[in-house]
Amino acid sequence: MRQQKITTTVLLEMKARGEKIAALTAYDAPTSALLNESGIDIVLVGDSVGNVKLGYANTLPVTLAEILHHTQAAARGNSRAMLVADMPYLTYQLSIQTAKENAGKLIKEGGAHAVKVEGGLEIANAVKALCDLHIPVMGHLGLTPQYIHKIGGYTMQGKTPSDRNKIVTDAKILEGAGVFALVLECIPADLAQEITAKVNVPTIGIGSGPHCNGQILVIDDMLGLSPDPLPKFVKTYARLRLEMQAAIQRYSAEVKSGAYPEGKSAPQA
Ligand code: KIV
Repeated sequence: MRQQKITTTVLLEMKARGEKIAALTAYDAPTSALLNESGIDIVLVGDSVGNVKLGYANTLPVTLAEILHHTQAAARGNSRAMLVADMPYLTYQLSIQTAKENAGKLIKEGGAHAVKVEGGLEIANAVKALCDLHIPVMGHLGLTPQYIHKIGGYTMQGKTPSDRNKIVTDAKILEGAGVFALVLECIPADLAQEITAKVNVPTIGIGSGPHCNGQILVIDDMLGLSPDPLPKFVKTYARLRLEMQAAIQRYSAEVKSGAYPEGKSAPQA
């Protein structure tokens, strides 16, 4: 397994070599440590923490304080991966000054190496301002969950010629503004392929086919921890929710029946 610390330069080199980039989300120290031990290149403290861990209906209520808290935890478990913190809704869209202050907080107090923001042309000035501060910025195009009320649903984006053109144009604009990588969520595989060929920075796909330079998934989804229904593109590599349920039910039954703890083997205080 690669021991080298993952930096923006390493990610660029991986794209140039055709080496795929493996990314996952993590929201706490032990999971972040596990991803590092398992060779994951990018650990994203996604605002998906809102749906996945905090019980929100979507990512919109997530605050900077919440992302900061989870980023600090993930940073404690991180050793070699690039640690990216998502900037929550309205923490970078309102003014350049607040974007700088909030991104700076995630780097300075959170221990993140980079931040991620959603959108294209409309946030390009904020992206450029952060890059001018030497804060590495990851872009996010296609299905952008922070704008779900405008998009209208968690569906495939870039299906019409004008939507395709807008996403390609936004990708070039973000590259020009200085992003070091681009997440492409839920766009057609051939569009992701076109963007991957047209930009020099790595593309990280989620539900966008096999042609991106890397892939990312929400960890709870791929481990089978999230309740159904999952997005169609998610491959589940384990069934942890079912295993946890069975273990908890067994524990509960044993406590109620008196089978646990066994009197004879109880540890002495
Ligand atoms: O918040 C998140 O987890 C994300 C990834 C799904 C890309 O933005």
